[in-house]
Amino acid sequence: MKILNFGSCNIDYVYLLDHIVVPGETEMGDKLEIFSGGKGLNQSVATARAGASVYHAGCIGLDGDMLLDVMSKSGVDTSLIKRVDSKNGHAIIQVSAKGENSIFLYPGSNAMVTREYVDSVLEHFDRGDILLLQNEISEIEYIVERAYDVGMSIILNPSPINETIDKIDFNMLEHLILNEVEASAITGLDEPEKCIDCLCERYPRLKVMLTLGADGCVFSDGKVKHYHPTFKVKTVDTTAAGDTFTGYFAAELSRGKDIPTVLKIASMASAIAVSRMGAAPSIPEFTEVYERLEKGE
Ligand code: RIB
Repeated sequence: MKILNFGSCNIDYVYLLDHIVVPGETEMGDKLEIFSGGKGLNQSVATARAGASVYHAGCIGLDGDMLLDVMSKSGVDTSLIKRVDSKNGHAIIQVSAKGENSIFLYPGSNAMVTREYVDSVLEHFDRGDILLLQNEISEIEYIVERAYDVGMSIILNPSPINETIDKIDFNMLEHLILNEVEASAITGLDEPEKCIDCLCERYPRLKVMLTLGADGCVFSDGKVKHYHPTFKVKTVDTTAAGDTFTGYFAAELSRGKDIPTVLKIASMASAIAVSRMGAAPSIPEFTEVYERLEKGE
């Protein structure tokens, strides 16, 4: 079984500030750091660092060499990535003294995924292979439809949430991994429990993985629910915490681990990421995750 992650690659410009700038305000930043990021790249790196083999597909711009480098060094197969004649996608990220973040995205190369390219990538995959997908590239509706035709098992992380997600037929998905804000936007409901029940009722074959920030996470297959609390750490930067969770979730699932074990490992990986600065650089290797779990931290 192969894992394909069709997703974005961004250059993250991270500005450290006292607080997130509000409309009409001007604030002096303390520091600028430049990291590799993008939900797609982060999730591929997390899947690879979790020890699974993963192919990344997506478009890299003229200034995106550092992104290819990070993925290759992390063990991601980059052979299906397309080079495009455009500026790479990037993110302007504010991180407050409390570790909260606010993100502005410029799509750039990520908006250059075409149907022809999607077809050429999916030729390399078969029934039963896993497709991981987020919402930062063009043609995600088409990717879901074609991957479903191939018989791939689709994991969608509908992030960032916007009207593109409404066009996707969730009956084609195997897993939906989302946070409370996304669940609320999709269902129109407020309480997390109601959101997860609503999604499972609407889409009977869908398995839903809902992350609850400081309150942990809950998984439901429509019959049984599994909960896991958050591992307590000092928050430095929450960027890519969800991506780390998703990448580890996909990797552990592909190895056939049971859901309680998958949740425990993904929660620890994500807690470690929160305790560090940056997106991809904050994602731990599985040896670190397993050691921390053994120590019972
Ligand atoms: O999920 C975090 C990511 O969101 C950042 O790396 C940034 O690039 C945005 O895509």
